[in-house]
Amino acid sequence: MFDVHKAARSTIRAVHEYVPNKPPDSIMKEMGIEHFVDLATNENPYGISPLAYKAILRESKSSLNHYPESTCFELRKKLSEIHCLSPDCFIVDNGLDSIIRLIGLTFLDAGDEIIIGSSTFSAYETTAKIMGAKVNKIPLTEDYRLNIDLMISACNRNTKAIFICNPNNPTGTIITKSEFIKLMEKISPSILVISDEAFYEFSDSPDYPQTIPFLSEYPNLIILRSFSKTMGLAGLRIGYAISSEEIIRMMMRVREPFPVNRLAQVAAMATLDDKDFIQQTLEINRDSRVKMAKAMQLLRLKCIPGQTNFIFVDLGQPVEPIWNALFSKGIIVRRLDGMNLPTGIRICLGKQKDLQFALNGLAEILGMLAPLIFDL
Ligand SMILES: Cc1ncc(COP(=O)(O)O)c(C=O)c1O
Repeated sequence: MFDVHKAARSTIRAVHEYVPNKPPDSIMKEMGIEHFVDLATNENPYGISPLAYKAILRESKSSLNHYPESTCFELRKKLSEIHCLSPDCFIVDNGLDSIIRLIGLTFLDAGDEIIIGSSTFSAYETTAKIMGAKVNKIPLTEDYRLNIDLMISACNRNTKAIFICNPNNPTGTIITKSEFIKLMEKISPSILVISDEAFYEFSDSPDYPQTIPFLSEYPNLIILRSFSKTMGLAGLRIGYAISSEEIIRMMMRVREPFPVNRLAQVAAMATLDDKDFIQQTLEINRDSRVKMAKAMQLLRLKCIPGQTNFIFVDLGQPVEPIWNALFSKGIIVRRLDGMNLPTGIRICLGKQKDLQFALNGLAEILGMLAPLIFDL
């Protein structure tokens, strides 16, 4: 008899399947809830750039019968001009999820160890487990930041990589430039540091490290950037890594030949040109972030407004009853009790009318007056 558990690689047996939620509209329909707001996924609530939309229409009329350009030549050229680096310092793939998997496939062996924060983006752990590597999770600081000192002291001769999610998902906090330099200086240069900057455009802190200039100093550094957040292209799946030409060439050995479709490539290039769209996204996000922090203060909830397109809220009590009550009002937020934050939720900075709807529901559950923060 065929036994799939025996047939699967031993490392895969220890990996939990990613079970996506049912699409929210069908769950809400089943529950008889007509109006709902989904504030659980950190996308751009205002859609995509109009220039990207035009580029997609143009491309879909002319060339979808052809394979995409394999290496994203034009996009890497554009990125190289923006960042003043060789195009060979860039690798583009089907979203950062794929890039993180590629890093695992290229660099992680069974017996290696990776160091990550105790509450951070889950793909690092999944990838390491698939490769048979050990995951060392380092507790966050009291103010919900990655603890760089503890991460440095956790390094040992099996450590292959440290994943720094900066800003960190799900807490929205950052590590500072001086912490970044301390990390790079103190660890062995044989350890890879992956700086996952999926949300970097949202950070307006003067302490946030601009890491690209450090590439020439630290050949063990890989920087990750996504088109899913500020750029609004989550549905097309495209993201990239920046590193030394040697690291990128090694990753190219493992990358699939055509991972980035034609529409994603042209949309990414058009979005990079659409400064107005990017500016508008950042301005609305900043406004929502400040207002939501104020609203949480009025609701007497501890909130980290963070440096991202979501806020982290510590409810000060177990998440489940409040999350369930929100859900039954059609308000979907991310519960974080599965991520070592038993009293935490993450609320995406969606459309402002949706945020007001969520605030009204949350206030009612807490038995408080709803803070009227946004115009409906
Ligand atoms: C920190 C972080 N890195 C990477 C990703 C994956 O991004 P992408 O949509 O480019 O695959 C996400 C998605 O939410 C994220 O939060």
